[in-house]
Amino acid sequence: MTIDKLFTNSRAPSPFTFNEKVAEVFDDMLERSVPCYRQVIDMTGQLLEPFVRQGDLIYDLGCSTGRPLIALAEMLKERQLHYIGLDSSEAMINKARLKAEMYAKQEEVCFELADITDAELAPCRAVLLNYTLQFLRPLQRAAFLNKIYAALQPGGVLILSEKIISHHPAINNGFLDIYLDFKRRQGYSEIEITKKREALENILIPFSIQENLNLLKEAGFSGCESFFQWFNFVSFIAIKQ
Ligand SMILES: C[S@@+](CC[C@H](N)C(=O)[O-])C[C@H]1O[C@@H](n2cnc3c(N)ncnc32)[C@H](O)[C@@H]1O
Repeated sequence: MTIDKLFTNSRAPSPFTFNEKVAEVFDDMLERSVPCYRQVIDMTGQLLEPFVRQGDLIYDLGCSTGRPLIALAEMLKERQLHYIGLDSSEAMINKARLKAEMYAKQEEVCFELADITDAELAPCRAVLLNYTLQFLRPLQRAAFLNKIYAALQPGGVLILSEKIISHHPAINNGFLDIYLDFKRRQGYSEIEITKKREALENILIPFSIQENLNLLKEAGFSGCESFFQWFNFVSFIAIKQ
């Protein structure tokens, strides 16, 4: 895994974009910037198990370098599911395809270059949308979730993970301080942390837990619960009845 030193470099992308340089270090960036990244993938596998049946299709929208789908293909291999990962970054999709080959999962896992906001989705049993809704313009989010809801079969499941904000300033600052400390403990310097935060300003726009739950309910999801929270990172499960 290439170590993420991107923001020690004066040519780091600003504003932030998912280009080739980011794709090169992205696996390390996810591990060191998203608390409990691996655990959420494991939990997703456990959560999906009772919902999926042989031959079902699972999407990962904003799949990046493909780690979640490749992990699910291994965890749920008895079910013989089909997996499609979509991402608008060619560099990410190239990495994901390579990874599928390396893990011998290219039969069941396919990665395609697409803008998830205008891609047509086939009927599916589950959709993963992890740390990606936060990169869509706020005004696009409701229509996008409606599209996911329409593609899901009855009983289908959406797994949504997001960085969140609290509208209570003291709580929000507390969460942010703890997150900054997490990044320091992952070996990021103050300069790297500041430069990345500046590059993400107005690019990553987090909603609160309640705002995300409202969006899910408005899209039609009947059952919505959070199944994981680490301060300012939350994962939800939403079910279409
Ligand atoms: C933080 S990463 C997602 C991480 C990934 N879901 C995971 O769990 O490993 C966000 C991804 O969303 C992709 N993305 C952002 N906007 C997109 C869009 N409109 N269409 C497709 N992909 C998009 C980016 O290229 C990037 O790879």
